Amino acid sequence: MKPDARFSRIDVFPITGALGADVKGVDLSTGPDEATLAELRRALDTYHVIAIRDQTLTPQAYQRVAARFGAFSANPVHASMPGLDHIIHFVREPDDTGKVIGEDWHMDLAWLPRPPGITMLYGEVVPPVGGDTCFASLAMAYRALSPRLRELLHGQTAVHSGKGVFAINAMQSRLALRTDAANAEETEVVHPLVCVHPVTGERYLFVSSVMRSLMGLSEDESRPLIQYLLALATRPEFQCRIRWTAGTLTMWDNPCVLHTAINDYPGHRRVTYRTTIEGW
Ligand code: SIN
Repeated sequence: MKPDARFSRIDVFPITGALGADVKGVDLSTGPDEATLAELRRALDTYHVIAIRDQTLTPQAYQRVAARFGAFSANPVHASMPGLDHIIHFVREPDDTGKVIGEDWHMDLAWLPRPPGITMLYGEVVPPVGGDTCFASLAMAYRALSPRLRELLHGQTAVHSGKGVFAINAMQSRLALRTDAANAEETEVVHPLVCVHPVTGERYLFVSSVMRSLMGLSEDESRPLIQYLLALATRPEFQCRIRWTAGTLTMWDNPCVLHTAINDYPGHRRVTYRTTIEGW
């Protein structure tokens, strides 16, 4: 396959017709120049998920590179690594059982007033097979709405709640949580249901797994519509799947996609580092 001809400093290979691209031909450890950084940003705006392959990043170098994409966003739940204020360490050991971190379709920190604009995940140790991450495009979901439903959703807002977030994270014995992480349970925010991407002007559906109700409707009344919108958003034709290789840095336009980690690698180790950049 030929790379996308709109990029000259990096090689960008689309993954599916919906979203996602593999990026090659860049070494982030030496600090990309401004022109290369601009192309990486443009690749992210265009494809919403990019997997930058073949990197060798220490956690310190990773934090330095991430800072080039914007200010770090708040994370009221996860504790960062010692000495690195913005990097969270995710470890799954071969004999761990139960859910993996990030299992089930979600948007990172959708229950914050300003969810992260970019999430980055660097894979240091990945299973020989399995442990992929799936993404689904919320812009494709918006475009798939019937004109009448689109009309009804425009101008609508919905409540996203942090209730249950602490419990899910606390189940992960290897995950370091902040001492005040339980405060997430009390958090509730209101977001518009239809948003506009600040760079591309593309409309996307802002739905998340922690969306509880539409403003003006009860939770019972909202549930069928929320279930419909989440099912629509995660249709296979709106998805891509990132197959990890050690040294892949995947970044995504967090509010424009849903993602889920796949729990299919028992007996293997997976070590990743996550950080988030402020949203819009
Ligand atoms: C996440 O949901 O942030 C983690 C996804 C993954 O580990 O694949």
